[in-house]
Amino acid sequence: GAPVEVDISKLAPGQMMTVEWRGKPVWIINRTKEQLEALAKIADKLADPKSAKNMQPEYAKNETRSIKPEILVAVGICTHLGCSPTEKFKTGAESGIEADWPGGFICPCHGSTFDLAGRVYKSKPAPDNLEIPPHMYLGDAKLVIG
Ligand code: FES
Repeated sequence: GAPVEVDISKLAPGQMMTVEWRGKPVWIINRTKEQLEALAKIADKLADPKSAKNMQPEYAKNETRSIKPEILVAVGICTHLGCSPTEKFKTGAESGIEADWPGGFICPCHGSTFDLAGRVYKSKPAPDNLEIPPHMYLGDAKLVIG
């Protein structure tokens, strides 16, 4: 498939957009400062906090799993059996999920949960973090996936 070009100039902090790449949904999320700070605090709850299992290109091997710290680009397909997880960005008690939920995604099929870097929580059916597709930036606001 051809690479997909995306203009992210209108993607405000806390917003998410979905584009299609090779027939798969790819999520682009502009994470807020608070959301980024939460990533550092939950490592002990995650199955593979450092993404040692190679679910991302070399340039996304960092805590935020991204090129630009705030922008996450991830394939929105659960690594268990391929459902599409639902975003649950609200945090804490507001989320109605758990008091200490820092925001992320929940898979409707068997309940796997992922943080806002697409990292899977421990003891969930999904074995791996969400895949980060190959991507690059052409200028500040033009993202190329593929
Ligand atoms: Fe997502 Fe099973 S497909 S938890």
